[in-house]
Amino acid sequence: MDPNKLGYAHEIILKQYLPDIANLEIRHDDVFVISYPKSGTTWTLHIVCQIFKEDRNNTDKSIFEEIPYLEFPQGHDLAAIDTIPGQYELLDIMSSPRVIKSHLKPHNLPRDMKVKAPKVIYVARNPKDTAVSAYNFCKLLPGFPTLEEWPDFFEHFCKGTGPRGSWFEHVLTYWKQSRNDPNKLFLKFEDMKKDLKGAVSTISEFLERSLSEASLDLIVNNSTFSAMRSNPKTNPDLNPGELNKIPAQFFRKGKVGDWKNYFTVAQNESFDVLYTEKLRGSDLTFEFEPSHL
Ligand code: A3P
Repeated sequence: MDPNKLGYAHEIILKQYLPDIANLEIRHDDVFVISYPKSGTTWTLHIVCQIFKEDRNNTDKSIFEEIPYLEFPQGHDLAAIDTIPGQYELLDIMSSPRVIKSHLKPHNLPRDMKVKAPKVIYVARNPKDTAVSAYNFCKLLPGFPTLEEWPDFFEHFCKGTGPRGSWFEHVLTYWKQSRNDPNKLFLKFEDMKKDLKGAVSTISEFLERSLSEASLDLIVNNSTFSAMRSNPKTNPDLNPGELNKIPAQFFRKGKVGDWKNYFTVAQNESFDVLYTEKLRGSDLTFEFEPSHL
């Protein structure tokens, strides 16, 4: 293992944490926010935390300090990468309702989730914009030296061999699980962009927390791209804390359709064939164009 390569080290660490994560004790009132990376996870978490604001007393922390990222280390000290405890170890002492972030596939989640049936919010984003967002994020991280060029990244994304594996497998597995389960909510980034107020209402109903019209409006105002980008509690680039040691840009563009600035015509055609083939028979659709509402 090369400890200077966070991406690689992160994968190693992830495997090291998996047995403990599988055995974690879950609470019925936990809320999991799960996604394939770069799909709007932080956005969804911010909305959930605001809905729970009255139940939580530690909201002075940034969202990255407040919400445990299940499979991630507690720090970025690469010299000690083999010994850094996982953030999942913080769960025990947290008060309820706990909000937990994860990008894990379902078979790696705590087994106790099947028994306790906590609420799970899954957020998905069209794969072209997800790929572009992930490409820009990974490009800035050490550890993915072979994926620095877009054609390389695109190829791995299509094959499911890039960081975090196949988008298709991740999204389709959660889609199938969410459809008929009242404890699971499947959101789409593009719907949140089109109707943020509707998305906040949907999330609050799912969490069984009614909001006054004034609270709803406040959450919507606090959850726009520009509000979150200028807020040090949601934008790690403005936060002098631990996470800022990763030179990544969290709030890059936040748009639907930025893929057009990256995909060549040939890449787009081949991706459309793959997308049609993989999603055939699933009833799952995505929007790839910005809404003009
Ligand atoms: P871009 O890289 O396309 O800008 P995640 O939190 O899962 O890592 O997702 C990050 C992506 O969500 C980034 O996409 C980021 O800009 C976008 N995002 C975060 N908050 C947003 C918001 N309030 N509105 C629109 N996009 C948002």
